[in-house]
Amino acid sequence: MADQTLIEHLNEILKHEWTGVAQYSQAGFIIEGVWREVYADKFLGDAKESFGHARLIGDKIVALGGVPVATRNEIQQSRDLNEIFTFSLAFEAKAVEMYCKAIELAGDDKALVIFLEDILKEEQDGVDEYTKLLRSSSATSAANPTLKAG
Ligand SMILES: [Fe+2]
Repeated sequence: MADQTLIEHLNEILKHEWTGVAQYSQAGFIIEGVWREVYADKFLGDAKESFGHARLIGDKIVALGGVPVATRNEIQQSRDLNEIFTFSLAFEAKAVEMYCKAIELAGDDKALVIFLEDILKEEQDGVDEYTKLLRSSSATSAANPTLKAG
């Protein structure tokens, strides 16, 4: 049986991924106006990514002899696109932190480290993506002079 600390941490990750499923789905459901065309699918896609990670982690917890949690944390929601991006960036950054810690706990288990690194890479992609979205959403505001035609 694997280290209890590792299984507990993987369960914290699983809870975070379930939170992502609900938080991104909700963002996709409630977005209205013209940006709905652009972002509803993007948010539902992120919910699917979280579900994919939840599935991988849940299966791994069982493989390690643990029992996966079926609970989640509170979600953060808003109708303001910029605020959704901010919540999403925080969500992805927390995931990066949690997977980094899991990799530390995996220690010498090379296969587990690689398994976690593969997911970590996708979480970092999420951080990069939302960082850029937050940048471009301020760049598209009329107040930003860099966008004016020169
Ligand atoms: Fe994830």
